[in-house]
Amino acid sequence: MILVVCLSSSWQRTLFFREFSPGEVNRATQGLETASGKGVNVARVATQLGAKVRLLTTAGGARGVLFRKALKADRVPATIISTAGETRLCQTLIGCSNAPSPLITEIVEESPALSPIEITAFLSAYSSALRQASMVVLIGTVPKGCGNGFYADLVRQANRLNLPVLMDAQRDLLIQAIRECPSLVKINRAELAEATGTPNLARGIKELVKWGAKRIVITQGSKPAIAFDGKDSWKITPPKINVVNSTGCGDAMMAGIAVGLMRGKTLNEALQLGVVCGTANSLTETAGVIRRSDVNRLLMHSGHKR
Ligand SMILES: Nc1ncnc2c1ncn2[C@@H]1O[C@H](COP(=O)(O)OP(=O)(O)OP(=O)(O)O)[C@@H](O)[C@H]1O
Ligand SMILES: [Mg+2]
Repeated sequence: MILVVCLSSSWQRTLFFREFSPGEVNRATQGLETASGKGVNVARVATQLGAKVRLLTTAGGARGVLFRKALKADRVPATIISTAGETRLCQTLIGCSNAPSPLITEIVEESPALSPIEITAFLSAYSSALRQASMVVLIGTVPKGCGNGFYADLVRQANRLNLPVLMDAQRDLLIQAIRECPSLVKINRAELAEATGTPNLARGIKELVKWGAKRIVITQGSKPAIAFDGKDSWKITPPKINVVNSTGCGDAMMAGIAVGLMRGKTLNEALQLGVVCGTANSLTETAGVIRRSDVNRLLMHSGHKR
């Protein structure tokens, strides 16, 4: 089972517009709502790919009720820690007139802080879930109250059980966790520059290796993703498509990589699946949703066997 941790769960509203003009009255042509947050997106896409998954997340308030219902409808097995704070609302506004990439505006609320009791409940659920897990995915920010060493602790616990940890985080949260040597780090180019203080790709990757990263994937949207396996580095070019909604592409990619590795694929094969899942995510209206038919078609075009 792939254990996916999501401490920054959200209720996601996506609104589509023919055109979007800031400062004007904008009437949506379509509105969609879903459970989201990076880990939720990973867990949903991995479930869609047919993998056995457990999502460990949080929910609270009226939006928390909607969130729980939506996860059930999406058939994502989940352990949900109840929080006093209301599940945050994130909104994506998509102006459709800019093919091949629409204008996408994201309005993101902060997650409510977790109390010490909620954190203890989460950590205890994590320890029990680890016993059933074969892989761990840590992705996204953590709420106030958790601290920047939070993922480092979770990596240490997983390492004690020899479980591979795949991670995607930012700044100090990422840096401290890398020092615990997770098996794979996947971040985008801007996050690499921010963490390492250099815009230079090769130097940035070297820095992550120096800190403890074993395998690294750096993504750049529609441009080639760069992989480093500890020895060699190579590029994987995403298929060319017209974007519908690119929110959550990195999360869908993480799901593809995790599922590929769980199925015993090589890093290169798992990355091919990851890249194609990232691209397939951008072809659907909802963040963190893919169509298997898109994945299969894009894999065939990339010449990769499933
Ligand atoms: N415009 C695009 N066309 C084709 N594929 C895309 C496009 N944007 C993203 N992807 C796919 O998704 C992968 C991850 O994209 P990206 O670098 O945008 O991740 P990210 O910044 O982590 O995204 P997010 O944080 O919103 O999930 C890319 O490597 C690629 O496979
Ligand atoms: Mg990302």
